Amino acid sequence: MEKMERVEEKKSRVLIIGATGNLGFELAKASLESSHPTFALVRNFDSHSSKSQKLQFLSNAGTTLLKGSLQDEESLVEAVKLVDVVICAVSSKQALDQKLLVRVIKNLGSVKRFIPSEFGLDPYKTQVSNLDHNFYSSKAEIRQLVEAQSIPYTVISCNFFMSYLLPSLVQPGLKAPPRDKYTVFGNGDVKGVFMKEADVASFTISAMDDPRTLNKVLYLRPPGNIYSLNELVELWESKLKKTLEKIYVPEEELLKKIKETPYPENMTMVFIYSAFVKGDQTYFDIDSSGGVEGTQLYPQLRYTTISDYLGTLL
Ligand SMILES: NC(=O)c1ccc[n+]([C@@H]2O[C@H](COP(=O)([O-])OP(=O)(O)OC[C@H]3O[C@@H](n4cnc5c(N)ncnc54)[C@H](OP(=O)(O)O)[C@@H]3O)[C@@H](O)[C@H]2O)c1
Repeated sequence: MEKMERVEEKKSRVLIIGATGNLGFELAKASLESSHPTFALVRNFDSHSSKSQKLQFLSNAGTTLLKGSLQDEESLVEAVKLVDVVICAVSSKQALDQKLLVRVIKNLGSVKRFIPSEFGLDPYKTQVSNLDHNFYSSKAEIRQLVEAQSIPYTVISCNFFMSYLLPSLVQPGLKAPPRDKYTVFGNGDVKGVFMKEADVASFTISAMDDPRTLNKVLYLRPPGNIYSLNELVELWESKLKKTLEKIYVPEEELLKKIKETPYPENMTMVFIYSAFVKGDQTYFDIDSSGGVEGTQLYPQLRYTTISDYLGTLL
């Protein structure tokens, strides 16, 4: 009994900011599943919203719900004081709203690990700064701030969520994968990476206490989840047992469409251009960039492969 209590004491206490969001909810569940005392900073306890069901679920599962927001310094101080690890999963639009949180973490000095809201491509590596309307520079600004303040951190560079572009097999405007014609952007040979949100969460929870990920980028680039558009459509064809007609959109044509389409509607094409034409998810070597790769650090963690996922779309 005494031994069990000692083991329990070692579990880091975790604060999730954004637990009613897509990724944040998965993070809170993964934290609870790993028996971490879990806290969630919540802006709104509105009892009729769909988000309240998530809060009810998390509360029933043992999460301590704290009222507060990224704009409310007092609530941040009170929440951050309670924990060892802070994971922020606010949406990309709120990236710069993390500045006050960074200041609070710095001033308190008690947080052993901060995981800022990146959870996408590595903003230090992307090559679309002329097109992305500061999408990546805002995330990079927060990382620079964290590094400059010497706050212990880990950044999760998980590439694309499966729920984002994979349901359409990377076909803007479609909600399901095509069954007749497939549009290939660029030459179709550049590889991108997809991760299921729940898997991103379990890798994040494994990484948050790991000395090997301290002040590092944890890239998620698992074998089975790295595909070019040509490979993706080939895999889909093998599942459909049918060959699709291919329509190629060369780089110049895609760039023209991006420029002609108003922001933010053009952002899907910007992300496709970044990943599948520029190769922003895979052009660099993880080891030589100083990062670490999730499936190499945690070979025991199971994850959904692209083939598994496409199997659910048949
Ligand atoms: N790699 C990819 O393909 C991909 C795709 C999507 C997102 N992402 C990344 O994943 C991360 C999370 O995004 P998401 O789409 O999961 O977010 P989301 O679903 O939009 O959820 C955002 C969460 O943040 C909370 N929030 C917003 N403003 C807040 C504030 N001022 N104070 C406290 N909480 C606040 C929201 O709470 P309320 O319930 O009060 O609104 C909500 O819980 C981001 O870094 C995003 O860039 C990556």
